[in-house]
Parts: sequence; structure tokens; C-alpha cells
Amino acid sequence: MAENERTSIESVLNEDRVFEPDEEFSRGAHIKSFEEYERIYDEAAKDPVAFWESVAESLHWFEPWHTPLVWTEPHAKWFVGGKTNVSYNCIDRHLETYRRNKAAIIWEGEPEDEIRTVTYQQLFNEVCRFANALKSLGVEKGDRVAIYMPMVPEAVFAMQACARIGATHTVIFGGFSADAIKDRVNDCACKVIITADGGYRRGKVLPLKETVDSAVESCPTVESVIVLKRAGNEVTMREGRDHWWHQIVAGKNTECPAEKLDSEHPLFILYTSGTTGKPKGILHTTGGYLTGAYITSKWVFDLKDEDTFWCTADVGWITGHSYVAYGPLANGSTVLMYEGAPNYPDFDRFWDIVERHRVTILYTAPTAIRAFLKWGDEYPERHDLSSLRLLGTVGEPINPEAWMWYHRVIGGSRCPIVDTWWQTETGSIMITPLPGATPTVPGTATRPFPGIIVDIQDRSGKSAEVDEGGFLTITHPYPSMLRTIWGDDERYRKQYWSEIPNVYFAGDGARRDKRGYYWIMGRVDDVINVSGHRLGTAEIESALVSHDAVAEAAVVGRPDEIKGQAIAAFVTLEGRHKPSEEMEEVLKKHVAKEIGSLAKPHDITFTEALPKTRSGKIMRRLLRELATTGEVKGDVTTLEDFSVLEKLREDEDGEA
Ligand code: PRX
Repeated sequence: MAENERTSIESVLNEDRVFEPDEEFSRGAHIKSFEEYERIYDEAAKDPVAFWESVAESLHWFEPWHTPLVWTEPHAKWFVGGKTNVSYNCIDRHLETYRRNKAAIIWEGEPEDEIRTVTYQQLFNEVCRFANALKSLGVEKGDRVAIYMPMVPEAVFAMQACARIGATHTVIFGGFSADAIKDRVNDCACKVIITADGGYRRGKVLPLKETVDSAVESCPTVESVIVLKRAGNEVTMREGRDHWWHQIVAGKNTECPAEKLDSEHPLFILYTSGTTGKPKGILHTTGGYLTGAYITSKWVFDLKDEDTFWCTADVGWITGHSYVAYGPLANGSTVLMYEGAPNYPDFDRFWDIVERHRVTILYTAPTAIRAFLKWGDEYPERHDLSSLRLLGTVGEPINPEAWMWYHRVIGGSRCPIVDTWWQTETGSIMITPLPGATPTVPGTATRPFPGIIVDIQDRSGKSAEVDEGGFLTITHPYPSMLRTIWGDDERYRKQYWSEIPNVYFAGDGARRDKRGYYWIMGRVDDVINVSGHRLGTAEIESALVSHDAVAEAAVVGRPDEIKGQAIAAFVTLEGRHKPSEEMEEVLKKHVAKEIGSLAKPHDITFTEALPKTRSGKIMRRLLRELATTGEVKGDVTTLEDFSVLEKLREDEDGEA
């Protein structure tokens, strides 16, 4: 970390290109100048609760709250006594307006001739019918429902239907394995799993139902499985348990009144990797989450009724929750959803979509941008991208080179870029430029959103000086913050509220420059950020160790040009097994089976022993250095056995 920190500080200190907001853009924007931002920010900082109340007032409440915030560290309750419904806010309230027949979702399937448009009225009908179907299976307010689906409109219908009746959903990314599904479904005791026969990815069909079948064998709480017919691949349906989506919604009423839910009613649980093996079920609730997703969608993306907003994230991640399924719909916007891969059938698929649908706002990840950059300018150049007016990024630090390319080639040097820092835990964007107001500098997420109070501190809670590195913290509660880790409040306290006294510990290193801009330097814990997705090293290690041939394993991240970080594994085999290329392949496949292919190590180094401290802790820091630079220069005084490192170093040399 120390080395990385230094390099990133040095490189960003050289960054002095400042992009002022475009005048014309500013004139039409919700927030029109930096002065306006600062005025709102400063006022909100003086009284964050009053600021958030004023935002929440623009949503629909069946009953008003009596207390805006009850804060008993580390537990927040927002808009207490208020009753609302997320689905009502995203759908019903637009039906009485000119938006009734406006497109809520424009969807494009991966196979090229498929486009569907779902208006707000149609969305209402579909969500209600599906909500009634869930009810007919006995799903009640407070029950948990798992969603394991491809990027199709029905994934949003399912989420909205749960929100409508007060069932708490947990969306599991379609790339996860049966074991990963099993862990998540059992952790929160889901009653129903919603899936599809299959989904398209790069021309192939992923057999989702088949994966669910092998998971559900070990999920005793699951009573029903609902299966959308999407790819037409063959599936086995178990009588009494499995239901086709189209059959179960047939004949259901297209009205299902939205439940009047407590502001603190659990809306969803989303699992994310932590530093120990078990994924954490991040819990978000109703009124506060909606407030955050709503206003950040509006101000960060400057959403207008005329916009076609495309957030490329899968609904399996938090970005797909807040900026596909909820935030933009709460604003009555049109969202574009695309099912498949960016390079299918060719490397210009995204640009083709932007051109044909006249997309105005594009929100994607640095890893995708770096891949586009590598594929070359000729692909975007084939298309007219002049409809774009705003670009966004999320998931990991964006390197200035990728930022500049995005700005020039995709944005035609005309579109502002919002580099947005936030987390599964924060529910909505925390640090970000506002596009009509904030001068941007490539590589920094700039300033906090109004109502969000952040600081950079050391372990004792002392604030860092200008340009001094430290830990990123959030010092005041805000509505969309996580409420706890499902079923493990102790872990919630320990993970986020014990590292530094009285503040939320985000797990990222950062520094603040003289403008007050925040530069995020990456994770400070054993979490790897691969293509903008968090993976815990412990989770991958335990997957490796679960293989018979493996005695011990350590996993670290090393920088990767496209993915941000790549997964490097160090493995000690059981005595009777010998290192080989085949063994490397076997173990990679094993991890893919246990967790999903996104967790597959990029390289595995076999070693007779791992470097450990005298107390037996694996020294990942050394392995990280080794994986990154091929040598170890850091402090090795606590190392128990020097020869281990010597051997590893020789092996690395041999590989190079
Ligand atoms: O390390 C930060 C990085 O992604 C982490 C959160 O990951 P996740 O919960 O999966 O959510 C990703 C999408 C919100 C953070 O702790 N991260 C996210 N956005 C940025 C970022 N790092 C730098 N710059 C960003 N804009």
C-alpha cells in the first residue's frame, strides 16, 4: 500500500488540467455554478438533517414523518413515522402526468433485432401483475426474495414488484455460481428465487436456471422458483416448486396497491465481499435510500425529461440498483438497458446503441473505458455520438489517460465527466462533480455531494493536512447509508465503526488537495477491486483451500492495465500433488465454480510455503509487492522464515 500510495500521489500531483463546466451546459443545468453548489453545500453542512428533509419532501409520502433522524451510533433511522413506497414513487406518481405514456425503459437484447420499450403505464401493469403473482405464492411483506436474472426488463419488474409489496429483495449477479447463490439465499432465508431459463452473453446462453437448480437443493427455505422464458434453452421444471413467469402472471390483476411501508422498512439486501470469507449482506431501507437515489440521479446526472439515460451496470450490483432500477425512475426518466457484452457482435456495440437510441447520458466503469481505449478509436468513430451530453464513471479510480480519452473520443471534448465515488454501503453517490457547476480535473471525484460530510483521517481520528494521505471517512449520517449487515450487527460495528472513533470507515485511502478535491487511492484492506467489482481475498482463498489438492493459499491484487486489479494467487499444494499447468487450470476452474468466473485468479504461483510472521499471519503485503514488481523491498523484519521469500523470488524470476 505504502508504495502504491506514493506512486499515485506523485502521478496525480502532476495533474493540473482543469475543465471548467461548459457555459451552455451550466445555463440549462439543475445546479448552474460552483457558487450555487457551494451555497447549497455549506447550508446543508450546517444542518444536514434539514437539507435531507427538504429533499425527501419532493417524494410521495402516504404519511409524513414525525422525526427526521434518530441517530444512535452506529444506527440511523431516517424519516421516522413516515410511510412511503419506493415503487409508488418510481411509477404511480408519474401516471397522473404527461409521463404516463413516456418510455420508462428502452431495452435492447444482445441478439441484434430485439428492442422493447416499456412505458410508465406498461411498467405499472407489469409490476402489479408480477406483484400479484408473488402474493399468490404466499410472499408477504418482510419476506426475502432472491433475483438471479439477466439484464432484461423483467429484472426491474421483479425488483419493483418486491418493493411494491414490501418484500425485501436480494439480487444476485448472474455471473455468480451455485455455491454463491446458496450462501446468499441461506444467509437471508429467501422464500422465492426469481430467475430465467438463460441469458445471453457474447452470443452464448448462460444456463441460469440450471445453476439455480443445483443451488436450491441446499436452500431449505426456498418454496418456489419463478422462471422467465428468455433464451429458450431447455430447463427442468420441478412440479409444485417451479413456475413459468408467463404462466403465473397470466390472468393476474394489473392493479396491486403499493403497501404503505415504514420509512425504515427493509428494501433490499445486497451482498458484497469483505475482508473475511463470508459476503456481507448490506441492508438498505425504504425512505432514506429512495431520497439518496432520487436526488443524486437528478443532480449528478442533471436528469431532464428529454434525456435517455444509460447506466451500463448490471442490476446485480449497487450501481444497477440505484441508477437503473430506482433513481432515474423516481425522476420519471427514460432508462436504457442493454442485456449483453460491449464487444458483441463487434467492438462498436455500445456506440451503435448510443447512436440508434440517441443516448444523452452514459454512465460506465473505468475498466470498460480502458478496454474501449485499447480496442481503438475506429469503433466509436464509426458512429454519430453527438447525442451525448454527459458522461459518468464509477467503480474505481480512473486514470487520467482513460479520462482524457473518454472526454475526447466519446464526449467529443464537449461533455462534462462526472467521476462518482460511492459504495454498496453508501447506497448513492457521495463524492462527485455536479456537471454544470464543478470544474473537473482528470482522476479526482472532486467534492462531496450536498448533505454528505466527509473527512480524511488517521487511525486516531485526526484530520489529514492538505495533500496528506489518510483514510476516507464519512462523519455525519445521511439517508441512503446502510443500516447494518443482515444478521450480523456485530460485524457492522466492527467493520465500519471501530477502525476510527465515531466515524464511518469507508475502507479507501484518499487525500484532499488544496482545492478541497478528493483523490481516491484505492482499498486499504484485503479487498481487491477487479473491473469495478469488489472481491475479498479471503473469499477466494477459502475457495482455493476447499480444493483437495490445496494446503494453503494467499491471494493478493496486482495492478492490471484493463481490469484495474488482477488476482494473483499463491498456493501451497498438499504433499502428494505436484505443481503443473494443468493443476493451475484445475484450480482456476474450481474458483469459478465456487464463486463465479469473475473471481478466477489470473495467475497462480505454486510455492512450498507462504511468507508468514512469527505469529503465523500470512504477509500479504510482501506477496503483493512480489506480484506487482517481482521483488520485495519492504520491511521484512517480522518474517519468520527468510528462505520462503528467497524461493518465491527465484520462482518469480523464473517465470519472467
Ligand atoms: O474502492 C472504492 C471503489 O469501489 C469501492 C466500492 O465498491 P462497490 O461497493 O462494489 O461499489 C462500486 C460502485 C459504487 C470503493 O470503496 N470506487 C468506487 N467508485 C470509485 C472508487 N474508487 C475511486 N473512484 C471512484 N469513482
